[in-house]
Amino acid sequence: MNSGVERMKKIFALTVLFGLIGSISSSLAEPPRAFEGRRLFVSYCQLCHGVSGEGDGPLAIQMQISPADLTTTIRSRSDTILKKIITGQGRQTITGRDRHNLLSEAMPEWESVFGEQQVEALIAYLRFLSRSKHQLMSDPEVGYKLYQQYCAVCHGEEGEGDGVMTKLIRIQPADHSNINEMNPISNEGLVRIIQEGKDEYMPAWKDILNRNEIEALVSYIRLLSN
Ligand code: HEC
Ligand code: HEC
Repeated sequence: MNSGVERMKKIFALTVLFGLIGSISSSLAEPPRAFEGRRLFVSYCQLCHGVSGEGDGPLAIQMQISPADLTTTIRSRSDTILKKIITGQGRQTITGRDRHNLLSEAMPEWESVFGEQQVEALIAYLRFLSRSKHQLMSDPEVGYKLYQQYCAVCHGEEGEGDGVMTKLIRIQPADHSNINEMNPISNEGLVRIIQEGKDEYMPAWKDILNRNEIEALVSYIRLLSN
């Protein structure tokens, strides 16, 4: 009789637990805006601007045009101007402070293609290209999924170092979305930390994840900290 009650209690506890896990996983954070921006860039821009934005894409070479090196020009441009450049509003014939000074007709006008949020996502990715000292090693989308699966409990869903485990044990992972904290560590340095673990509480993942998966995680962390 008593053991029946105990069993019921256990089943009840498990149901609550799984309900909780279910609700956590269904409310996973969306990947940050730069991820959508990267997807759009790969499909629409890379042919001319090149993988890293330096202007050496195959279509540019074929068309004999030289798109700007986005990794440097972007830095001095405000979001407002970038929006105008991408949508094609405010060409240099329009006088006044709004002009953007693009001379070449070769840069397409994307106004009818993208909504406002997509343009903002593209700008977030362009900012990443111009700020990050490190290339993406592998697919950050793959890394995003692995991170939610294995790392978010400690590092937080958006990498800010505030996962549920930080409330249970005294750990203080770095803020993976902070470029100043992450830029000083090289890609290989990050790979090594993830493979080997760090101090007491950062587990070693080398027996669980393969090299590709770890590189994808590094790419996720890079794109997160744009
Ligand atoms: C057909 C080739 C082509 C494609 C595709 C293309 N661009 Fe361009 N883009 C250019 C060229 C050429 C320039 C240089 C124009 C100039 O300096 O007069 C340019 C310039 C730019 C600039 C301004 C750089 C600066 O600061 O001076 C931005 C920003 C830009 N492109 C973003 C994009 C984005 C975002 C996409 C994809 C949605 C895209 N481009 C797709 C050819 C292209
Ligand atoms: C059990 C908790 C826990 C899990 C799970 C975990 N980490 Fe960590 N991680 C930590 C802690 C704590 C540190 C800080 C170690 C130190 O600096 O003393 C850390 C450090 C790191 C660092 C170095 C920069 C920093 O945050 O301090 C990287 C990179 C990292 N972890 C990546 C990952 C990745 C990728 C995963 C998932 C595959 C992961 N971690 C899973 C606890 C965890």
